[in-house]
Amino acid sequence: MSLDSKSLSPLKIGALKIPHRLILAPMCGITHKAFRRICKEQGAGLVMNQMVSARALVMGDKKSKAMLSYDESERPVGLQVFGNNPDDLEEAARIIQDTGIDLIDLNMGCPAKKIVDDGGGSALLNQFSLVRKIFERMRKVLKIPFTVKMRAGWDDRCYQAFDVAKLAEECGLNGVTLHARTRAQGYSGQADWGLIKKMKQELTIPVIGNGDVETYDDAYRMMEETGCDAVMTGRGASETPWIFKNFVDQHSWKPDRGELKNLILRQYDYFFELFGTESGIKQMRKHLCLYSKGLPGGAEFRNQVVRMDDWTLLSQTIQNFFQ
Ligand SMILES: Cc1cc2nc3c(=O)[nH]c(=O)nc-3n(C[C@H](O)[C@H](O)[C@H](O)COP(=O)(O)O)c2cc1C
Repeated sequence: MSLDSKSLSPLKIGALKIPHRLILAPMCGITHKAFRRICKEQGAGLVMNQMVSARALVMGDKKSKAMLSYDESERPVGLQVFGNNPDDLEEAARIIQDTGIDLIDLNMGCPAKKIVDDGGGSALLNQFSLVRKIFERMRKVLKIPFTVKMRAGWDDRCYQAFDVAKLAEECGLNGVTLHARTRAQGYSGQADWGLIKKMKQELTIPVIGNGDVETYDDAYRMMEETGCDAVMTGRGASETPWIFKNFVDQHSWKPDRGELKNLILRQYDYFFELFGTESGIKQMRKHLCLYSKGLPGGAEFRNQVVRMDDWTLLSQTIQNFFQ
C-alpha cells in the first residue's frame, strides 16, 4: 500500500474504526468539547479529550464529571484518565465507559510535578508491577478499546516505554501512543522518531507516533520514517486546526484573514456555549494569540486583546484585524 493510501485508510484500534490516521492529542485546558468541535469540523480522524483524574471521578467531583461530556457529532472520540491507584482506575474506567465513549486511554506521559509527585502520569513508567495490575484491572472492566499514551522513558538512562508497551500488548490493550521524548526532556529538544520506529518493529498492536508533528507534511513524514500506524498531533493542531483538512486533502492550505475570522468567531460561539461569556473570553485568549502569530500587526493586536473583557469591543477588534 502506498503511504498516501495507508495514511488515508481507516485504522482499527480494537473494534473501533477511525476514518484516517491523524489524531488530535489530549491536551489539558485545550481539548475540551468546544475545541474538539473545531478539530472535528476540520476533519480530525479521532479526537481525544483532555486527561481526567480517576480519583476525582471516583469521589464524584462535579467538575471532573462535566469534563466527560462529548457530543455525538465528535465520534470517534476518546477520553484519557490519569491516576496510579488500581481501585480508582478500575472504577473510573467503569464510569467513563458508561458515558458511551468510544475509547479510553491511560496517561503514562504527563511530566507535570503535581501529577508525578502523586505517582501518576510518567511516574508510572518506574512502576512495572503496579502498571501490570492497572492494565489488568482496567482491561477486565473495559469492553471498549483501551490504549496507553506514554513518554519514552523517565530519562535518557532508561527507555521503559518498550517494556511497558510489550506489557500493554500482553495485557490485551489495543494500542500504544509514544510521545518520543523522555519525562526529563519536558518539551525541550526534538522528539526522537527513531524510538517510534523501534516500537513499531516490536509490537503487533497499533503504534501511534507523537511529537513535533506541526504540519500535515510532518505527519506523512513520521508515517514514512517510522512505519507507525497513526500520528497524533498536539501543539500543531492547537495552532493550526486545519492541519487535519490538509492531511485529508494532501495539500497545504491556510485560511486567509477572512476565513480565519469566521473560524475564530465560530470558535468563540462554541466556547461561550461551554463556558459562558466571561470564562469563554479568557479561555479563547491563547487561541487568539496563536491564530494571529506571524500576521503583520499581530504583536500589537495580541497586546490589545489579552486585556479585553468586553465582548462588544473584543469582537469589533477581531473583525477589524482579520478584515
Ligand atoms: C498544553 C498541553 C497540555 C497537554 N495535556 C496533555 C494531557 O492531558 N494528556 C497527555 O497525554 N498529554 C498531554 N500533553 C502532551 C500532548 O498530548 C503531546 O504528547 C505533546 O504535546 C507532544 O506532541 P506535539 O509535539 O504534537 O505537541 C499536553 C501538551 C500540551 C502542550
